[in-house]
Amino acid sequence: MLHDICQAPVSLDDPELVAEWNGMIRAFMAHGTATPTHLGAVLSGAPDFAMGHAAKGLFSLMMGRKELNAVAREAGTTAVAALATSGGTARERLWVRALGEWLDGRPSGAIAAMERVLAEHPTDTLSAKVSHAIRFILGDGVGMRASIENVLDAHKGHALEGYVHGCHAFTLEETGDYDGAEAAGLKGLQLATDDAWGLHAVAHVYDMTARPDHGIALIENNCAAWDHCNNFRYHVWWHKALLHLDRGENDIVLALYDQQIRADKTDDYRDIANATSLLMRLELEGTAVGDRWDELADFAQGRTDDGCLVFADLHYQLALGAAGRDGAQSSLAARFAVDAARQGEMPARVADPGKAALTGLNAFAEGRYDDAFRNLAAARPGMQTIGGSHAQRDVFERMTIDAGLRSGMYDATEALLEDRIARRAGAIDRFSATRLANISDARRIPAQ
Ligand SMILES: [Fe+2]
Repeated sequence: MLHDICQAPVSLDDPELVAEWNGMIRAFMAHGTATPTHLGAVLSGAPDFAMGHAAKGLFSLMMGRKELNAVAREAGTTAVAALATSGGTARERLWVRALGEWLDGRPSGAIAAMERVLAEHPTDTLSAKVSHAIRFILGDGVGMRASIENVLDAHKGHALEGYVHGCHAFTLEETGDYDGAEAAGLKGLQLATDDAWGLHAVAHVYDMTARPDHGIALIENNCAAWDHCNNFRYHVWWHKALLHLDRGENDIVLALYDQQIRADKTDDYRDIANATSLLMRLELEGTAVGDRWDELADFAQGRTDDGCLVFADLHYQLALGAAGRDGAQSSLAARFAVDAARQGEMPARVADPGKAALTGLNAFAEGRYDDAFRNLAAARPGMQTIGGSHAQRDVFERMTIDAGLRSGMYDATEALLEDRIARRAGAIDRFSATRLANISDARRIPAQ
């Protein structure tokens, strides 16, 4: 039996198809544009390759779009039929099981299946990356770190070793080991020069530790690592914009928004998240963003019934609230109420922290800052579970803090700021510095 680049046997008997499969794996690891092209070539050459269909289904679910649930379901049906025809290895069967678990509303079951593959094949970088990606969606930073650390040794000298260091860097950063993350990410980049994920993990470090000069230089000096990417490159531009924001260069931020981050007017939830969270950050800093919310709200309005990810929904709400789309906001809130009453891993996230967060964002949009603060602060302890990174969710943190300031709740707001600073290894970025100064100024002014 032939083996793939992850040193695992594959039910493909044509070396050219194995080369396509390996091309898919490399592209997926590097967030490259060629992932679907390679996967399509594998499936047209080997229509009974169950793991390929499972990959198509899992990748579709990762997109967080309602219409792709049907694509994933069809891929799952085809994968099960392919297994019945061709058997398949234990790894391939576990991939089909992983897709079935997620389709049945248990993404944690998909992770468990990946971990079973990794117990057997610790050199399987692809399964490690899928486990990493689903844990990212579930906000499981600790599990994400343990998972990748379990396969680090097996990847010494591996063809894909660099990407594993990149994933490790991200998990270290998300669990607060900023020095370790910086070292791992830079090591990974040396071994895999197109490792956008690893480079971006180091950009996260410089964001969290308030070193914007380092972050901007890193991104500018390593274009080859991320310029080749699918829409992930917009996310790297977004990181660059955050770093410029921390230097107070809001005009550069707006230019990056127009020329790069929102160059493609897509409704991919990750692109919408980049855009809405950046516009909100700019507005919190007092920068007018003109009519930029409108096209985002147009897309968000069409997604209120998606119900795939709370993380996506809350970013849709940012656009709906800012653009004053009352009807769509009501639809989203009504759908949250229905989903929150359901059983399951994702509905549980809608119930807590989703509902409180959505209520808080809505209140913020309407200028009811005391209500916004109460609800956003109530949601805060559970926000990790909506997924995404600390840097992404920081927009909600900033809104909570500014709602507290605007409603005069200085003690509670100061406590949140101190916690935010502690999570950043004591680093005080421009946001924390200005808000601490605001509190201090407010306390000096005697009450009327
Ligand atoms: Fe990021």
